[in-house]
Amino acid sequence: MAKYSEMSKEQLLAEHESLLEQYNALKAKGLNLDMSRGKPSADQLNLSDDMLTNIPTLKDVFSETGLDTRNYGVLEGLPECRKFFSDLLEVPVENIIIGGNASLRVMFDYITQCLLPNALGAGWLASGKPVKFLCPCPGYDRHFSILEYYGVEMLPIDMEDDGPNMAQVTEAIQDEQVKGMFCVPKYSNPTGCTYSDEKVKALAAMKPAADDFRVIWDNAYLVHDLVEPEQGDKLLNIFPEALKYGNEDLFIEVCSTSKITFSGAGISAIAASEKNIAAIKARIGKQFISNDKINQLRHIRFLKDIPTLMAHMAKHREIMAPKFKAVDEKFTEGFSECGIAVWTKPKGGYFINLDVMEGTAKRTVALCAEAGVVLTGAGAPFPYGKDPKDCNIRVAPSFPPVEELKTCADILVISAKLAATEKLLAK
Ligand SMILES: Cc1ncc(COP(=O)(O)O)c(C=O)c1O
Repeated sequence: MAKYSEMSKEQLLAEHESLLEQYNALKAKGLNLDMSRGKPSADQLNLSDDMLTNIPTLKDVFSETGLDTRNYGVLEGLPECRKFFSDLLEVPVENIIIGGNASLRVMFDYITQCLLPNALGAGWLASGKPVKFLCPCPGYDRHFSILEYYGVEMLPIDMEDDGPNMAQVTEAIQDEQVKGMFCVPKYSNPTGCTYSDEKVKALAAMKPAADDFRVIWDNAYLVHDLVEPEQGDKLLNIFPEALKYGNEDLFIEVCSTSKITFSGAGISAIAASEKNIAAIKARIGKQFISNDKINQLRHIRFLKDIPTLMAHMAKHREIMAPKFKAVDEKFTEGFSECGIAVWTKPKGGYFINLDVMEGTAKRTVALCAEAGVVLTGAGAPFPYGKDPKDCNIRVAPSFPPVEELKTCADILVISAKLAATEKLLAK
């Protein structure tokens, strides 16, 4: 078979008709499948079930240092939990605060704190001028939702294979109203790329015009390898690099156990400079007296230390890797000859980034929905949901079982090809 771009009108018509037949046959099955969000599967959640029973009696509610986890206290989190995240993020214990169950809430709260007075002086809103933020994209839609909620103007930055386009970043930060940037530096959502040492160093050395500029360093997928960790991507620790330029206050690192233990009942962590930790503590201390330390205790008893964590992540990998492989095989089989799509082959994380023919992503997603497969909305990984090329589709293979996933991928391939032939025939 030739590439679609090289086909005659007659060949394209014949291809279109054959695709339509295959599509209608799949549609007739009346499927109801969901590949829309990067949720762990039930099999993955089951891996952490021991956490549900590791505080069996009253005498077990005490932490290593004798703290009664049922009571108020230690706003910054259990010392053993802080030590765990300190080892994981390679940041001193004093620079860690344990948060609640969602790093997203930590990020929302941090942005709120920056907009208002106190944490960073007068706050981003003080001048009355528009607040702007850099958004490497495709990126994580929920980061963009936080900014949209507050009316922060989002400036797209091209995401390259090894991180954001630094020329665009360097130019944009000359504007004093550009107050920050979202980064997912490892196994990024949705491209799966990891920032190169060069890009981490360039970000660490940035000289923004705004003296209250902040980077949210969302390290959500730091241990989520789909290959043996030795063969996986390595991310340079941002803090020692930033310190070289006196830029340690620029970075707020967050992560969570949402995709390690339970997505709805994990724990999160913040790593930041001494100054930022003090400002965060001052703010959260007005919000609550302590986080859920019983959950922190469950987590530390279960995850224990980094070797135990990595052994646990290997079990996630056993479930996840075959799913990514199945999708990749379906895409290779379906797309390699027609030449209408490119996709990423990440070594970790939760997503595959699929770029279909320009101007056909929305149509592809709609065709999938009609055939009973729900995908993430086309455009979601872009600020304001607007993909300028209408070509990006975020594929989330984690939730459906492998056989179901193969059907989803078949429908996605046929839908993308159908949308492409429709577009080419309409020319
Ligand atoms: C990059 C990124 N950050 C954060 C989250 C959400 O994390 P949490 O459950 O800790 O709020 C996700 C979930 O998909 C994500 O992809």
